Amino acid sequence: CGICGVVGTRPAAPLIFEALRRLEYRGYDSAGIATLGPQGIDRRRAAGKLDNLERVLHAAPLDGTTGIGHTRWATHGSPNETNAHPHAVGGVAVVHNGIIENYETLREELSAAGRVFTTETDTETVAQLVDSLLEQGLAPEEAAFRALRRLEGAYALAMIFTGHEGLMIGARHGAPLAVGIGEGEMFLGSDSLALAPLARKIAYLEDGDWCVLRPGGVVFHDARGEAVERPIQTVALIGGAVGKDGYRHYMEKELHEHPVVIGQTLQRIIDPVTRQITLPDLPFALEEIPRAVITACGSAFYAGLVGRYWLEAEARLPVDIDVASEMRYRNPPLSEGGLGLLISQSGETADTLAALRGLRAAKQHILSVLNVETSTMARESDVTLGMVAGPEISVASTKAFTAQLSVLAALTIAIGQARGAIGPARQQHLIACLLDLPSRAAEVFGQDEAIRAMAQVIAEARDVLYLGRGICFPVALEGALKLKEISYIHAEAYAAGEMKHGPISLIDRTVPIVAIAPSTILFDKTLSNLQEAKARGGRILVFTDAKGAARLRDLAEIVVVVPDVDAFVTPILYTIPVQILAYEVALLKGTDVDQPRNLAKSVTVE
Ligand code: G6P
Repeated sequence: CGICGVVGTRPAAPLIFEALRRLEYRGYDSAGIATLGPQGIDRRRAAGKLDNLERVLHAAPLDGTTGIGHTRWATHGSPNETNAHPHAVGGVAVVHNGIIENYETLREELSAAGRVFTTETDTETVAQLVDSLLEQGLAPEEAAFRALRRLEGAYALAMIFTGHEGLMIGARHGAPLAVGIGEGEMFLGSDSLALAPLARKIAYLEDGDWCVLRPGGVVFHDARGEAVERPIQTVALIGGAVGKDGYRHYMEKELHEHPVVIGQTLQRIIDPVTRQITLPDLPFALEEIPRAVITACGSAFYAGLVGRYWLEAEARLPVDIDVASEMRYRNPPLSEGGLGLLISQSGETADTLAALRGLRAAKQHILSVLNVETSTMARESDVTLGMVAGPEISVASTKAFTAQLSVLAALTIAIGQARGAIGPARQQHLIACLLDLPSRAAEVFGQDEAIRAMAQVIAEARDVLYLGRGICFPVALEGALKLKEISYIHAEAYAAGEMKHGPISLIDRTVPIVAIAPSTILFDKTLSNLQEAKARGGRILVFTDAKGAARLRDLAEIVVVVPDVDAFVTPILYTIPVQILAYEVALLKGTDVDQPRNLAKSVTVE
């Protein structure tokens, strides 16, 4: 979820609304704004996307210079207007990101004391609790502080109070919250992206902090209530709204940015003159790392899986990997001084952030591969390797994925060199393969017709099986994920050799098989697996190179021919047509490509 708050002299609602647009990547199930108007707290809320809230605000604008807003990714309670934030009870309105874990206990307690709840949300409990303390005659600061001490779980909160124009209280526990410092106005936001056009000076609350904002300034308090100082940083202004540049969807635009993004990302990390990998200063020695633990969520996790193949096979580094939601509770035995490698486009995903903290506690060096370099993960890492992907607006990740792979490939070379596993000739060969990628990536767009033909077959299916082997197995996983996310067609990815141990029973004419099969050393093995599928009536659709295509003539119904490249870079190149396929299927299905149902760009709750 995304939070924004304003105390100042200008009308608050329009400022908050624009900030919510920038926060929509955190969820778009419902949205709302509350301000302090002449009659006290006044609210406008709407289920669904921000456009719905915009219509409501247009019909009935909100007055007031103090206000809070929220865009929601539903956790407790369905995404309807009643459950939309802000929640207002008596003298207080609250917006919340996170989960209050003890809300049922608090709710019972407050209900027993006669309080009547009107929503199913954990957030209403916070509003009820604060209001019950206000009713006892406590001032807002004291009521908020006492309420916070009763809350368990993860949260970022913003509150405003009837009769207290020019006062807002924010609190952070496990979920990030930033303060924007303006001239005679102050802001709260989930991240610097929300705040950047409003205020260039930003301070982050530390875990357990809460703060009191008035137009003239902010006072930070730690969990014990003591006043504390927090460092103020100046951030770069972020430009206005990002456009679609004539493309139908952000996703289509971002797919076309693959070649440029791969090029820019590699340029940042490979010196064009010496053709050496240039990493930022590291507070540890690469050659001394005993092993790496990789963790991430969603597409970023699949990038990590490719990273494992690279780091093990090329750099000879032992790697453990898991999705962040598992890693954070697995508590694996780790020897001190290992590498904790986190991958995240947004740098805000709650599970990945929690896994980062766990790895730090286990004394690992924290290296994060991130697209947003002002994000929470960037601030909590020992070193950040930035992708140069630019803003990724489409909820389904595209260019960030190939940018993550580009960084991981370069990192593999650097670690391999440091460990003596990659010699100078191999290093120059791998770097040459990488630098050749942007042009090869651009050539993929010449294959539109074959991809559209594949899309026709898939659009009619209810289930699709993606197959890949070795380093291209994660590309199959990414392809299946992308298809599920944006076309709502069920897809599953399997390591090609594992198909015979289960999913082969699903195969018939109605379950197309999509294979990611460059003509590398594993090609013959995949070919056998495809023959097994064909023998059972399966329709075979393949991504391969010209050499592979020649050998698949009788077997495959449709072949997309991808430029011939070294096996090392195949995952980066093959991802592009595989993602385009999902996009083409979504177009045929007529779904909401950029904002598919139920998803969020960055999930900031556990
Ligand atoms: C969400 C998105 C995915 C994304 C994942 C991780 O689930 O829908 O597309 O891969 O979060 O996001 P991150 O920002 O950490 O890369």
